Amino acid sequence: MPKKLAAGNWKMNGLAAELSEIDALTAAHPDPSCDILICPPATLLSRMADRTGGTAIKLGGQDCHEAASGAHTGDVSAPMLADAGASHVILGHSERRADHGETDGLVSAKAGAAAAAGLVPVICVGETLEEREAGETLAIVGRQLRGSVPGALSTLVIAYEPVWAIGTGKVPSIEEIGEVHGFIRAELRGMGAAFDPGATPILYGGSVKPGNAAEIFAVADVDGALVGGASLKASDFSGIIASLEAA
Ligand code: 13P
Repeated sequence: MPKKLAAGNWKMNGLAAELSEIDALTAAHPDPSCDILICPPATLLSRMADRTGGTAIKLGGQDCHEAASGAHTGDVSAPMLADAGASHVILGHSERRADHGETDGLVSAKAGAAAAAGLVPVICVGETLEEREAGETLAIVGRQLRGSVPGALSTLVIAYEPVWAIGTGKVPSIEEIGEVHGFIRAELRGMGAAFDPGATPILYGGSVKPGNAAEIFAVADVDGALVGGASLKASDFSGIIASLEAA
């Protein structure tokens, strides 16, 4: 069984004043029965790491460059994230695929760079509304998985985030989530890769809130969540963590 994971993606949100949310989160979950991961903007990573040292809260980046260093103005490398206190890095989020034209091949290269730096890649996949309405969801997710996940990885996390559910308050039905998560597990098993498909957490992401988390976590092959807006406030994220611990 994969270890359950409650992951928060702060996206481009968070200044020094918001570090108090991490203090509240660590205080509320001294000994959680699931993994807890916060991915703040890179600017807050090392300051957050100063506050989460010795606690159960893990930290991650939201993207990394595929090279370890070099002339890439404005980019952040995987070794830099690890140096700042990260253990994970989100890769291939739909906002990066849309805003920065990231392809499956680039995401795969970044995942390799992350693993080489000792980071666990959290690789995101998910269909647009147009693709879902055209009945292409499983084809798209399958293609993204095969293109974005290097078989040489020994450890990874998958996040299924339907693009149309992100930040919209819309959530797929329980049956739809179950269908895609079961499909992802089967695809991982079919890859014949270095990682253990049965031990790879598959997170659901897209408008997860304290009020809908329990029913989502009850779905087979849902091993946790990747949470955007509701991870910004410790009080909201704590409710989601509690639902995952109880699932
Ligand atoms: P929301 O939880 O705000 O819908 O965002 C989901 C997401 O994109 C997490 O990566």
